[in-house]
Amino acid sequence: MINLWRVTMSVPQVDEKRLWDSHLEMAKIGATSGGGVGRLALTDLDRDARNLFITWAKSAELSVKVDQMGNIFARRKGKKPNLPPVMTGSHLDTQPLGGRFDGAYGVLAGLEVMRAMNDASFVTNAPLEVVVWTDEEGARFAAGCMGVSVFTGEKKLEDALACQDIQGASIGEELKRIGFNGSQSCGGYPVRAYFEAHIEQGPILENEEKTIGIVKGAQGQRCFRVHVVGDEGHAGTLPMDQRKDAFQAAARMAVAIDQLAFNLIPKSVITIGAVNVLPNSRNTVPGGTVFSIDSRSPNDKVLSDLELSMRQICRDIAKDRNVSMRFESISYTPPIEFDEKCISEIEMAARNRQIGYMNIYSGAGHDACHMSTIVPTGMIFVPCKDGVSHNERESAEPKDLAEGCSVLLDVMTSFAG
Ligand code: GLV
Ligand code: MN
Ligand code: MN
Repeated sequence: MINLWRVTMSVPQVDEKRLWDSHLEMAKIGATSGGGVGRLALTDLDRDARNLFITWAKSAELSVKVDQMGNIFARRKGKKPNLPPVMTGSHLDTQPLGGRFDGAYGVLAGLEVMRAMNDASFVTNAPLEVVVWTDEEGARFAAGCMGVSVFTGEKKLEDALACQDIQGASIGEELKRIGFNGSQSCGGYPVRAYFEAHIEQGPILENEEKTIGIVKGAQGQRCFRVHVVGDEGHAGTLPMDQRKDAFQAAARMAVAIDQLAFNLIPKSVITIGAVNVLPNSRNTVPGGTVFSIDSRSPNDKVLSDLELSMRQICRDIAKDRNVSMRFESISYTPPIEFDEKCISEIEMAARNRQIGYMNIYSGAGHDACHMSTIVPTGMIFVPCKDGVSHNERESAEPKDLAEGCSVLLDVMTSFAG
């Protein structure tokens, strides 16, 4: 009886409960005591999350392929299988103390679109594809958006595979270890359009009481690693004026760099989030310190001005503190604007469904920013509680997630024909 009803139904409907339950199930993998998720890229937990996705994709009758960067593609056949697919997706890796929705929402919303279409026996002309991108967060392997950057040709495969974590394990080795060094070549096939659903990760939608953020673009980002080299010494015997304390130099650099974004260069944000002190012993004067810089602005000129100022700050302080310093550039993503047609289709879908919407810019970086360099791309934001993200407290409402997913379903259907 139920099956007959499914066969005859023609309009796919997102199932809010199924989408929510999938989030809760996925969030069990790497669940933290504070209610969040810690699932760093290419760890055993990431492997388990990938395998759960593949199990779900296969039971939705999607065909699954893995490329040389470990990106996973789950395809639903179209009536015209030779047409380029309409793609959606995001990432399953998280911050060390991340939330349940950053990334997972985009993947699970894509899967829900496929499940809803199966329920309705609805077949598009072009194939549809859900992708899980490798290492979006960059929390373990410095730069982030690794899988998608190779797919788009922004990064060379061999450079990405050689990228190492702080323990010296490379992406290539870790992909092999967890069994996700796929055989399909990375990129190089046409895609009709790419859409990504994501929580906003900021407070604007909630404050404005809107459910859908139509993302017009995203700010640019420059990331660096600063290597400060001093000399180790005994904490009790080495006089203060004879020290080459790498941490003290790095700390002064960090304060001066923070001041740039705080009150000298408006429309920018700078974060120093990872610091490694060597040898990291209470009673040894630190001989080395390496710290990360993540700088962002919607304005490309501001970003390059920031870089020049930060380099100068580090040079001056290194000289003053009698240490040496190397300022290493890790990544650069320019500010981007999303595709006008994708933007207007998202707006039409939200309007037709009478869901409150507004235009918005993304402060965060996303796989979609990279896809926008090669195919028409759009992003759909939904609110998250108090705008909190990269935090175990990250939270979202089932109804908002479902409404964002319905808009995703509409735009994918419209592009796939
Ligand atoms: C991704 O989470 C980023 O914006 O860094
Ligand atoms: Mn994300
Ligand atoms: Mn994130």
